[in-house]
Amino acid sequence: MEKLVIEGGERLRGTVGISGAKNAVLPVLAATLLQQGVYEIGNVPHLKDVITMINVLGLLGAKSTWVDEHRLKVDTTGAEGFEAPYDLVKEMRASVLVLGALAGGRKRAVVSYPGGCAIGERPINLHLKGLSLLGCEVGMHEGYVDVRAENLCGAKVHFEKSTVGGTENILMAAVLAKGETVIENAAMEPEVVDLGEMLQAMGARIEGLGTPVIFIRGVEGLTPCNHDVIPDRIEAGTFLVAGGLTRGNIAIENANPSHLTAVIEKLREAGMEISEENGVLHASMSRKRPAAFDIRTLPYPGFPTDMQAQVMTMMSIATGASVVTETIFENRMMHAAELRRLGADVMVVGKQAIVRGVKALQGAKVMATDLRASACLILAGLCAYGTTEVSRIYHIDRGYEAIEKKLGQLGAKIERKKDEGVAP
Ligand code: EPZ
Repeated sequence: MEKLVIEGGERLRGTVGISGAKNAVLPVLAATLLQQGVYEIGNVPHLKDVITMINVLGLLGAKSTWVDEHRLKVDTTGAEGFEAPYDLVKEMRASVLVLGALAGGRKRAVVSYPGGCAIGERPINLHLKGLSLLGCEVGMHEGYVDVRAENLCGAKVHFEKSTVGGTENILMAAVLAKGETVIENAAMEPEVVDLGEMLQAMGARIEGLGTPVIFIRGVEGLTPCNHDVIPDRIEAGTFLVAGGLTRGNIAIENANPSHLTAVIEKLREAGMEISEENGVLHASMSRKRPAAFDIRTLPYPGFPTDMQAQVMTMMSIATGASVVTETIFENRMMHAAELRRLGADVMVVGKQAIVRGVKALQGAKVMATDLRASACLILAGLCAYGTTEVSRIYHIDRGYEAIEKKLGQLGAKIERKKDEGVAP
């Protein structure tokens, strides 16, 4: 086990580059199962979740090789597998994204039913309902979802709630279905659009990406393509918060500012100066402490739930009280208890948290509970007095590429060490 040891108080300065988006590269890799052949995927981040998805593809017959540091060649020639086993799906529930591609590309999918995770039960009922509407026979046995898709037919799929993975799975199943599919209340996240654009490059006929209604006209066949993954807006948002709560002055390269409108608006409300010049984001904070602000997480283009924990850290040292309302996941406030160990004044009431800003946090030993909670605790360590130790950082390695290296390049005092203190 490893931990990150952080000496707080350094004001971050300099330039950081954003990696490819975890939540875009995972469905993009799954999409290679739709059509046998050779794909080159660019801007692939080195993350645990990417390795897990490469392993899932491997089990399904795909061969993946790194052609340079961030470019992956995926060869699905001859790949006929359709089973994604429990011991890989339990590693990463996003493995369920192979369902739609296998149904579309191989007419058969047997995928371990993903369990919940720390932030919520994470059901896939809407995915399965959509696949049934497309003519799939969907069964369950011994914890596996069993999908037979010999007669995929276009249909109207109305999602009762916005689901990123559900939209992605139905997109991938529909591109080879007979006739037209309409997805209503579709997710509009940039990662969904990125997947859709890759599918279009493969010959899929899709309209309405990035809007609540997506039209797909099924085609006879697809062609493998090369595709570069969009930048990670959540990593970029995390670094914006790091620049703000350390009263630093940083430049963020390779981000896409248009994916961060809701986050930038809130950080400006907190008092940050954020500007964009030739696609580079410049962020600084001259105020001694951030101003308080409220957030309510919503599907894109609303404030992203994946940035909720990070901004709670900024609120914890704000001049005043802030209110956080988490509307997407039922249990995404566990970082509050760990922030309290650092001296934050956070009261969680159901889906809301009231954060009363304190002058400063004090370093302490804390434990990460999930991916974005670990980011929140690292941010807290950057601005807390003294030393903060964040254990169970395998969570952070799932979604941030070389975070301590990137923060160190901005002047943070942060080190990865062995952690004898915590049982695995
Ligand atoms: C994606 O998860 C992201 N993961 C999550 O990022 C992100 O938080 C989430 O979208 C919301 O933006 C990936 O893209 C790999 P949903 P996903 O389906 O697709 C409920 C991170 O930190 N729901 O949009 O699983 C669900 O329980 C991760 O990078 C159903 O009820 O999210 C949740 O309350 C965390 N039934 C809500 O919808 C379903 O069939 C939104 O979930 C599907 C979802």
